[in-house]
Amino acid sequence: MNNFFEMTMPSDGKNEAFARSAVAAFALSCSPTLEEINDVKTAVSEAVTNAVVHAYGEEGGLISLRCEVDDKNRVLTVTVTDFGCGIADVEAAKEPFFTTRAEDERSGMGFTIIETFTDEMIVTSKVGEGTAVTMKKVFS
Ligand SMILES: Nc1ncnc2c1ncn2[C@@H]1O[C@H](COP(=O)(O)OP(=O)(O)O)[C@@H](O)[C@H]1O
Ligand SMILES: [Mg+2]
Repeated sequence: MNNFFEMTMPSDGKNEAFARSAVAAFALSCSPTLEEINDVKTAVSEAVTNAVVHAYGEEGGLISLRCEVDDKNRVLTVTVTDFGCGIADVEAAKEPFFTTRAEDERSGMGFTIIETFTDEMIVTSKVGEGTAVTMKKVFS
């Protein structure tokens, strides 16, 4: 069985730092470079922040994180899932500078950053059910 871990946390902003650090600590078994580990932290941070900021209203909800390495310890796969409002048009949301929260000074660059700092990003979403962002990082 490939090594993995899963955790679930409330959609509280303070869990963003914990989530990115947990993934970074887990990824150490892959002996990543400092640059690679920073790329992973940046990507996880953007995905968790999106779940915190966009998925739920005032009442909040849950965010799940799953992290797995392949049997050769070369490929890290991280999935951040929420059970919130979902995204009506995923392709539009992935465009640079697209944001539905411009009034909060969001840059609309989150998905673009994830795509830039990882080797693959897959976003699946259903309105009213939630969003899952899967990121793959291949280590050198
Ligand atoms: N987990 C999510 N749940 C609901 N909507 C989301 C989620 N993640 C992203 N979005 C939507 O996609 C848009 C683009 O996200 P992103 O590129 O990170 O930019 P930003 O967060 O700065 O708005 C967001 O403005 C929001 O409308
Ligand atoms: Mg964002």
